[in-house]
Amino acid sequence: MNTPISHPAKRGVALAALVLAAQLATAADPTSTVTLVGRAVPDIANLPAGPQRDLVEYGKQLSERTFAHIGPEVANQKLRYAGNNLACVSCHEASATKPFAMPWVGVSATFPQYRGREDDISTVEERVNGCMERSMNGKALPLDSREMKAFTTYIAFLSKDVPIGATVQGAGTVQSKMPNRRADVTAGATVYAAKCAVCHGVDGQGTRVGKAGDAQGYTFPPLWGPDSFNTGAGMNRLAMAARFIKHNMPLGTSHDATQLSDDEAYDVSALMVSKPRPVKANLEVDFPARWNKPVDAAFPPYLVGTADQHKFGPFPPLADKQKQMTEQLKALAAAERAAKAPPSR
Ligand code: HEC
Ligand code: HEC
Repeated sequence: MNTPISHPAKRGVALAALVLAAQLATAADPTSTVTLVGRAVPDIANLPAGPQRDLVEYGKQLSERTFAHIGPEVANQKLRYAGNNLACVSCHEASATKPFAMPWVGVSATFPQYRGREDDISTVEERVNGCMERSMNGKALPLDSREMKAFTTYIAFLSKDVPIGATVQGAGTVQSKMPNRRADVTAGATVYAAKCAVCHGVDGQGTRVGKAGDAQGYTFPPLWGPDSFNTGAGMNRLAMAARFIKHNMPLGTSHDATQLSDDEAYDVSALMVSKPRPVKANLEVDFPARWNKPVDAAFPPYLVGTADQHKFGPFPPLADKQKQMTEQLKALAAAERAAKAPPSR
């Protein structure tokens, strides 16, 4: 129906209806997609002065200089929540805005979400604490702490204008396929010496800004050893690490200008995860649903394949086998849950 609308008042009403329809479409359309590549990052300078802006600023500071505010070397012992001297932005690059480096832009629009690690719906706060306890090898922040509020307020600020339920292109990492072979740690050591050691150190311990104990963090962060992420971190999973490293390292790499081949990224990541690091206790309770445990989560229980294969691959056969066994694994998880449930009265 292409009836021309000539009466000005009618035209106004029609226009308003169109605008409303368009707004409803963005607000409610679950298929809407936001692309982070090339998208402008919200600027804190545009916020009016006041408590909201102060908290966004603090959240950004906390992310960039985590070690100086809640690190293991800060003067106030009560604020020593992180267990290492990394910063959130050691991994969430460019103040957590870089596409395909696990950016936080849009996180407020995609949480609460189901997470396999907990087999439950997880909030933004719980996700922040997931990284606090693993990537930062530390303790959970209290939900009512100024620090937790600052993180979630900064995340919400970055997520401005991303509609709830939208698909965010550039979120997480690039979902590249892993080579179908066991990773080669020796080949990884060669890649490491040629392309990583110059910054992260021959011994993987990085370079501190100042001296140990000064809470000033790193110019180049460590990749393993006592001041690194722990065994429960996402970065300690070979495929996750390979996806991050391939599209973000050496420093300056972006998803559309990579410097490592798939094989190099896979092998150098294997070298990294083969090294010692702090051990997270009670990992067996992660991914209680079992059937959706990522195949590169290299901690027991192993219901399919060997410990070595979960750590170093090859992953495609494991993924296939796990898929075939989905129904069996779901039944097992249900039985485990029933066994743990308190007796009914
Ligand atoms: C050692 C690397 C590393 C550090 C340091 C780190 N994270 Fe993460 N973070 C990750 C990885 C890897 C993921 C993605 C895991 C996944 O996809 O399940 C992630 C995911 C997240 C997410 C969810 C992102 C999304 O798209 O769903 C949030 C929020 C987050 N981290 C917050 C933090 C905060 C806050 C800090 C600092 C206190 C921090 N992280 C430090 C590696 C890190
Ligand atoms: C030019 C210096 C430089 C080179 C070379 C480099 N990195 Fe990095 N890397 C950094 C910096 C700096 C960060 C922190 C993130 C940032 O500032 O953007 C980082 C962060 C990381 C992280 C996440 C943080 C952590 O401590 O775990 C990993 C993993 C990593 N690099 C692996 C590698 C690997 C593997 C290579 C070699 C293929 C490599 N990097 C080469 C400078 C470098």
